[in-house]
Amino acid sequence: MDPLKQITHIDNVKLGEDGASVVVIDQTRLPGATEYLVLCTAKEIYDAIYELKVRGAPAIGICAGYGIYVLARSIATEDYGLFYRKFREYKEYLDSARPTAVNLGWALNRMEQVVLGHKDRPVKEILGLLEQECRLIQQEDMEMCRAISEYGLSLLCDGDGILTHCNAGPLATSRYGTALGPLFLGKERGMEFHVFADETRPLLQGARLTSYELQKAGIDVTLICDNMASLVMKNGWVQACFVGCDRVAANGDAANKIGTSGVAILAKYYNIPFYVLGPSSTIDLNCKTGEDIRIELRKPEEIKEKFYQQPMAPPEVKCYNPAFDVTDHSLITGIVTEKGILKPPYTESLRKFL
Ligand code: MRU
Repeated sequence: MDPLKQITHIDNVKLGEDGASVVVIDQTRLPGATEYLVLCTAKEIYDAIYELKVRGAPAIGICAGYGIYVLARSIATEDYGLFYRKFREYKEYLDSARPTAVNLGWALNRMEQVVLGHKDRPVKEILGLLEQECRLIQQEDMEMCRAISEYGLSLLCDGDGILTHCNAGPLATSRYGTALGPLFLGKERGMEFHVFADETRPLLQGARLTSYELQKAGIDVTLICDNMASLVMKNGWVQACFVGCDRVAANGDAANKIGTSGVAILAKYYNIPFYVLGPSSTIDLNCKTGEDIRIELRKPEEIKEKFYQQPMAPPEVKCYNPAFDVTDHSLITGIVTEKGILKPPYTESLRKFL
């Protein structure tokens, strides 16, 4: 396989051949090692999501879909009532792994609807339908990412400089990615881009994953620390910012990796278009505005110790470690979805879209 396809078609999440496990690439080991994890139990699936071994909103949803199927298969009963009670327990447990990316609850709800919609069928048949549904979630994501990549590419010119934050490539989705999808697609068509990848403190998704994916695909990528974005914009090296999203509220406010809103504010100052790219599965009309989006808070150790050879802060220092922030809709030039590029006012365009 050519190196570009090896990346765009990477099998980051799949159902194990026996249907009794979810197999994921351990993203915490990249770029140093490509290791696969075989997840069989509820705790293994929960931990893989919580510890970001599998991460990125769409990939989390896909993993949860396969995960709840694997767990449903392990429920040893023919009785629908008992089956559903245990299924709900597993569902709630997996759903609690990470709160911000809506795709997690979205995929689990889809799976639950299959169980609820077939109360009169034997459990064995319900399991067959669940398997179809989780495969469909991944298949649909592939199609959505491809379409988002096409729309995103229509916003770019050959030779453009693009700044991105965190990782919204194939590792975070199914194929191609969202924010990085247009760059891979453009590369396939002979276009060249210069990408500035924010390293993305504290968990370094930009350094470890985005620069890895782009470099492997032969796309020109320059890694910068998060606090360098302003300078590269000022230098005139960035023609557009492309970022992913974890939950988009009804008014267009978009939650994404911590630091994204700062990029958007800088882009506004330097008059650079700022695009959010994401599938419809990431839009949550139940959240009226970004105020309704729950932001995940993570351990202080990720700031003080992780990735350092020795602790880099006094052990007792207080830390604030939100994993995401919300970019105000007024800073977003467009939201690129699988059905087109939505423009402000987002309350209207998002409602029509869904
Ligand atoms: O904490 P992470 O690494 O799961 O955060 C991921 C992001 O913020 C991505 O930009 C987002 O999920 C979109 S992935 C297509």
